[in-house]
Amino acid sequence: MEVVPLAGAEEIGRVAADVIESVVRRRPEAVLGLATGSTPLPTYRELVRRHRAGEGPSYRRVRCFNLDEYVGLPDGHPESYRATIARELTDDLGIEPGRVAGPDPSPAGLADAGERYEAALEAVGGVDVQLLGIGSDGHLAFNEPGSSLGSLTRIKTLTEQTRQDNARFFGSLEEVPHHVLTQGLATILRARHLVLLASGAGKAEALAAAVEGPVSASCPASVLQHHPHVTVLVDDAAGARLDRLDHYREVYDAKPAWQGL
Ligand code: GLP
Repeated sequence: MEVVPLAGAEEIGRVAADVIESVVRRRPEAVLGLATGSTPLPTYRELVRRHRAGEGPSYRRVRCFNLDEYVGLPDGHPESYRATIARELTDDLGIEPGRVAGPDPSPAGLADAGERYEAALEAVGGVDVQLLGIGSDGHLAFNEPGSSLGSLTRIKTLTEQTRQDNARFFGSLEEVPHHVLTQGLATILRARHLVLLASGAGKAEALAAAVEGPVSASCPASVLQHHPHVTVLVDDAAGARLDRLDHYREVYDAKPAWQGL
C-alpha cells in the first residue's frame, strides 16, 4: 500500500486524474471503476477540464463500471449513482451511456442483479483502475462494517450513520434509501489498481484504521491491505491520525521518477 500525502482535495484530484489518464493512454479500451460521493468530484472536474482543453486522452473506447447503486429510487432519479456518474463525469468525457455500467436496481431483477454484475465485470476482463472513497465508518463502496471480506456484488442495508452522511444529497433523511446494490469487497480486490481518495478531517479515524489497523470486517476498507497495488491519496486533514505519516512523506519524496503510481 502506498500512501501519498498531498496538500488538499484539489491536489488529490490532480494526482488521481494523472493516474486515470495514464491508464487510458496506455490502454485506450481501459476499464475504469468509478466511485460516487463528494471525494472523487475534484478528480472528475479535473479530468473534464483537461478533456475540454484538449489535453486529455480520448475516452471513446473506455468502459466504466460503477461501484454501487441505490435500490428503490424512481427511474432516472438525479441522486441515483447511474445519473450522478453521467452528470459528473462520463457525459462530459464523451463516453456513451451504453459503455457505463452499474448494478441494476430494477425490482424484478434484484435477486440475481449481483451475479449479473459480476458476470459483466468478468466479461470485460475486470477493472484496470478503481477509484474509491471511504465512509466515515470505514465502509468501502456500500460494504458496511461487518461485511464479509470475501463478498461479491449483492444487496445490502445501509447503516443509519451512512444514511445520515448521505442525506445531504437528498431533501431529507427519509428520502435516503435503506437498500443498495454494491460490489463486494472481493469484487473490489479484483481490480488491478486501487486508488483510495480521502480528504477532510471526517475521514481521519476511518483512514487510519483502514491503513494501519488490523484487517477486519469491522473496518471494511482495511481489506485493501491484502491488495498488491493500492495507492492512497490523502490530504493533511484526512491523514492526521496516521502514525507513519512522516515515513509515507519520506517515501513519496524519495520515489524514483520512473516508478509512477
Ligand atoms: C458513499 C459511497 C462510497 C463513498 C462514501 C464516502 O456511501 N457509496 O463509495 O466512498 O459514500 O462519500 P464521500 O466521498 O461523500 O465522503
